[in-house]
Amino acid sequence: ARPGPFRSGEFALAEMQRKYNATLKLLCRLAEGSVLTSPGGLLPHSDIIGQLPGQMLHTSGRTRLLLRRPSLEEYVLLMPRGPTIAYPKDISAMLMMMDIHPGDTVLETGSGSGAMSLFLSRAVGPKGHVISYEIRDDHHNLAKKNYRHWRAAWEIGHLEEWPDNVDFILKDVSTAAADMKSVTLDAIVLDMLNPQSALPVLHPSLKQGGVCAVYLANITQVTDLLDRIRTCKLPFLCERIIEVTHRNWLVLPVPYIARPSYWQDAHSAFLTKLRKFRPLLS
Ligand SMILES: C[S@@+](CC[C@H](N)C(=O)[O-])C[C@H]1O[C@@H](n2cnc3c(N)ncnc32)[C@H](O)[C@@H]1O
Repeated sequence: ARPGPFRSGEFALAEMQRKYNATLKLLCRLAEGSVLTSPGGLLPHSDIIGQLPGQMLHTSGRTRLLLRRPSLEEYVLLMPRGPTIAYPKDISAMLMMMDIHPGDTVLETGSGSGAMSLFLSRAVGPKGHVISYEIRDDHHNLAKKNYRHWRAAWEIGHLEEWPDNVDFILKDVSTAAADMKSVTLDAIVLDMLNPQSALPVLHPSLKQGGVCAVYLANITQVTDLLDRIRTCKLPFLCERIIEVTHRNWLVLPVPYIARPSYWQDAHSAFLTKLRKFRPLLS
């Protein structure tokens, strides 16, 4: 990050302590003349602009807010949503599954709200490329907007540019066979209903030994996917099916409390790792 103070146009994250050791996080894009509204009162953006991140400020109601720059995880959890996002805890596991490197070319479907697109963009870096298909124009526009806002705000608060490496394409991926002829994909990530409809179109472009990671909410969808791979003899081996569970703990001094938190994250998805193989020549 740029070592300097907040500037107009950047994102700022305000953290407010609540009961039971909970923290409320509020995201705002700083603009002169705007006001941050919190349950503890108002804070004009002009009070934030010019301050160094990490500063504690008081609202009109004398509530303390800690102001800092948001991480990408915080941004995707707080940005406007259309469809459900892939959760950051699952995204990091999928990036690992696909063994994404700077410079890779990755295809994702669907763009949704753009959470996965942003993490892929960072992982493949300025020399890499993300191709993101979306069938619905409202979701396509939202994903593009969330990506554009993050990039624009990033450039104000950081010395280096955020890569402009995502192509958002408004199209049903199962009709994208012609687009695929000229691409070689290092990895594929599918977060869509009925991912089995995309595999016949996409698998010829995935490099031999490459991984397709699939995000599905229900285990019956996973078995449908594996059934389709088997019956259509698609060249994929299922290497792993996992859930990513985080167990949060509450640790408070005097009187000492050290126990699992009362609130835990619920189930989000099953992550399936499919490896493309070359069938034996008979
Ligand atoms: C759960 S959302 C994806 C969320 C996204 N991964 C994120 O992190 O924000 C699923 C998206 O897939 C899109 N979709 C479903 N079928 C599709 C298809 N055949 N081609 C392209 N997009 C599709 C839906 O419109 C929806 O926006």
